[in-house]
Amino acid sequence: MKGVVLAGGLGTRLRPLTAVTNKHLLPVYDQPMIHYPIRTLVNAGITDIIIVTGGNSAGDFLKLLGNGKAFGLKHLNYTYQEGEGGIAEALALVEHFAANDPVCVVLGDNIIEGNISSAVRSYRHQGGGAKIILKKVPDPQRFGVPELDGRRVLRIEEKPAQPKSEYAVIGIYMYDSGVYEIIRTLEPSGRGELEITDVNNAYIERDEMSWEELEGWWTDAGTFESLLHASNLVAGTGANKLELNHEAEISARV
Ligand code: DAU
Repeated sequence: MKGVVLAGGLGTRLRPLTAVTNKHLLPVYDQPMIHYPIRTLVNAGITDIIIVTGGNSAGDFLKLLGNGKAFGLKHLNYTYQEGEGGIAEALALVEHFAANDPVCVVLGDNIIEGNISSAVRSYRHQGGGAKIILKKVPDPQRFGVPELDGRRVLRIEEKPAQPKSEYAVIGIYMYDSGVYEIIRTLEPSGRGELEITDVNNAYIERDEMSWEELEGWWTDAGTFESLLHASNLVAGTGANKLELNHEAEISARV
């Protein structure tokens, strides 16, 4: 399984903080934001990783991360998204890198307390299709929100005024190699983006979607309030600390 960190987009909701730099390079407590999603992948044993950057200061990712030595990696891959065509558009850029392998996609502004190892393990056993991860939140209308029927997810609505559950679909997704064909069928949404929620609904319609609930806290960091909240959460309880430093140990766990 390959790892994808989506750190494109223009971060307009964080202007002027993002006027001259990239949102994912901003600090969340004591680390640049992009460090957290990379740790999420590495801690789940996923070491073949591509970062999709975009907008301002794309070259600074290379300066900051290099080949990923700080994460126990030997190599990191990079690609660039022009403009802000949406999460699904950014994901389409990794088709060549993924080369028919399944991918675990983490949004660059999503931070978790714990790890996703068990979700990744159960996705591997699923043998294809997609998996999403859910978390109960007090403000689901800010996110993709699932309508559930027991273990089945019936549909996901993007930022619904009247949410059909208390859950948010967090920004960590697992897909098989069919995802790029789905993205090619998408039309831009009202906000002019190719939506990841439309990708997820396509898998739901094929009855190829599973979900799991995340343990520990989760937050995004794309607004002033959530950026501050993220820093406070990390300062208070610590986020997903890097669990492994050696490639050999990482490979042994996969
Ligand atoms: O945080 C989870 C939520 O993320 C989900 O619940 C929603 O279903 C999903 O649509 C998304 O919602 P947002 O509107 O908060 O996403 P945002 O536009 O803030 O983008 C989140 C990250 O995705 C961003 O930090 C980088 C990446 N991205 C986004 C866009 C629009 C890209 O790489 N390229 C893009 O064009």
